[in-house]
Amino acid sequence: MRDWSAEALAALEAGLLEQVAESNSSTALEAARVAILGRKGNLTAKLKGLSGLAPEQRKDAGRALNRLKQSVEAAIEARKGALADRELEKRLEAECIDVTLPPRKMNVGHLHPLPQAIEELVAIFGEMGFAWAEGPHVEDDFHNFSALNILPDHPARQEQDTFYLPPDAEGLQKVLRTHTSPVQIRTMLSQQPPIRIICPGRTFRSDHDATHSPMFHQVEALAIDEAIHMGHLKGTLVAFLRAYFGIDDLPVRFRPSYFPFTEPSAEVDVGCDRSGGRLTVGAGKDWLEILGSGMVHPRVLQNCGLDPERYQGFAFGMGIERIAMLKYGIPDLRPFFESDIRRMRHYGFLPLEVPSMVRGL
Ligand code: PHE
Repeated sequence: MRDWSAEALAALEAGLLEQVAESNSSTALEAARVAILGRKGNLTAKLKGLSGLAPEQRKDAGRALNRLKQSVEAAIEARKGALADRELEKRLEAECIDVTLPPRKMNVGHLHPLPQAIEELVAIFGEMGFAWAEGPHVEDDFHNFSALNILPDHPARQEQDTFYLPPDAEGLQKVLRTHTSPVQIRTMLSQQPPIRIICPGRTFRSDHDATHSPMFHQVEALAIDEAIHMGHLKGTLVAFLRAYFGIDDLPVRFRPSYFPFTEPSAEVDVGCDRSGGRLTVGAGKDWLEILGSGMVHPRVLQNCGLDPERYQGFAFGMGIERIAMLKYGIPDLRPFFESDIRRMRHYGFLPLEVPSMVRGL
């Protein structure tokens, strides 16, 4: 039935070798190997056929078939190596990176000027020993006004300045805090002197033009102890303003003023130059008002349960947008809140780019 002649075996070998040679991928070669040498492979079947031969024929046929098997196995191994080389080459070609291509432009990024200004002033006051305090944006009349000695007929309470919330179940109308001074009250009510805090945060007033935004930021400072006087206020502010603007001899001037919650009160100006339509802090003969300050009013101390005969203190508050505008030379408020990257870039504030693994770095 089966042909064991030398010609038949040679034809079988040629066919198998051709099958191996025609396998064009590692997967195809593996399929061919199984078809030839696997359990149901045709060479395996042929080897099994040896047992049906007469003993004298089986010896020669067995030897020939074994040689044939070795030749096919060697061809498979050789083909395997060749295919692996070729596939590796293809992969290398596909994954090749042209190192001569120019790199993608990378934006380094920068903090927004407001958090940057806050970081800077927190660092300066932190070194002076002031702690960070916070309070709620929605305040009641007591903390925002009356504890600060702002009487019911004070213009700051009128609707054009203050955002009032709808009355609650008890008919009480809360407000969006109009300044950071309520944090003074909360701190004095909850801590015993000595107190030294700053409170940067959001404030809200019904006001909107190129230099006013209905939401803006202030930083308030409060120091209370047994022997605090105006010299401490002055020294702290001069040191802060010179450090913040980075000008060692920045002229600083105190002008008498009025705030319901401080007595005496002073407005603080820094030296500036307005020539040529440009405002420069530090140089020149002009003055620029920059913040409000004063010694905490005895009635405010009393409202917070502190004895004004024993404790005194100073407080000051300033707009963060304003000091950021002055430091970075940004002439109006809009770029702070518009999120227009082109404007920010114009003032040197690049957006932070999140590196994307898809696009590459
Ligand atoms: N709260 C004042 C304002 O909003 C600023 C200020 C704070 C003045 C503390 C004096 C003392 O204008």
